[in-house]
Amino acid sequence: MGFKEHIQPDKLPQHVAIIMDGNGRWAKQKGKLRTFGHKIGVKAVRETVEGAAEIGLKVLTLYAFSTENWNRPQREINALMNLLVDTIHQETPRLIENRIQLRAMGDLSQLPSNCQRQLQKSIDDTADQSGMILNLALSYSARWEILRAVKALAAQVQAGTIRPEDIDEAQFSKHLCTAEFPDPELLIRTSGEQRISNYLLWQIAYSELYFTSCLWPDFTREHLFEALVAYQQRERRFGKISEQVAAL
Ligand code: IPE
Ligand code: IPE
Ligand code: MG
Repeated sequence: MGFKEHIQPDKLPQHVAIIMDGNGRWAKQKGKLRTFGHKIGVKAVRETVEGAAEIGLKVLTLYAFSTENWNRPQREINALMNLLVDTIHQETPRLIENRIQLRAMGDLSQLPSNCQRQLQKSIDDTADQSGMILNLALSYSARWEILRAVKALAAQVQAGTIRPEDIDEAQFSKHLCTAEFPDPELLIRTSGEQRISNYLLWQIAYSELYFTSCLWPDFTREHLFEALVAYQQRERRFGKISEQVAAL
């Protein structure tokens, strides 16, 4: 029996975020170039996205390229950007078949123009889909996002449209890229690294963290289901005591 049968449908997280890590090491282990790892990593993305839609998640946010990743060798950046354009182009019909709506968040103006165009086209082409939202974090970092929110709020204060004392968590969240989504209940990182790498810092305040040593190209829907089962076995206390939680 697989992990899927052990997932309780009434306790599913709505939003899962993933740090897809380990492509380079996976390729190196096989004596190949890092870019080969990225290429095979696309298969894992397809698997995960379709597994997430199949199980009924509402939002899946994938960390595809960080602000810091711009510091990689230019050749690797170019390979990643080309892969991104090709993948989004090729996968859009499949997204539609699976009723998936594509979104992107990050400093998208930094992406090469062909990338921006293809991304916008696929976002537009899938905008009517009513199933899961696939949200790609691209040229994204949480500190960039938080600073952007701070600047927007500061401008509103300066314009006199909001008072500083009215800025609360809900107000602040409205200025984040994820404004319309619930915070991720579960954050998964592959490759064995146990760090956040500037991902969703505000939103993961109370997320369950799940680290697996599986390298991203080896990640399958079964791994996702395994993470969901592990998530469902945890007690989320939000500062309360166990007895209070059990009484709910
Ligand atoms: C994740 O794999 C993909 C991106 C960050 C774009 P890496 O490229 O970070 O692979 P490792 O961590 O070096 O193995
Ligand atoms: C985080 O992975 C970013 C993405 C998965 C896109 P990195 O491989 O860039 O993170 P670090 O450098 O190991 O923290
Ligand atoms: Mg990495």
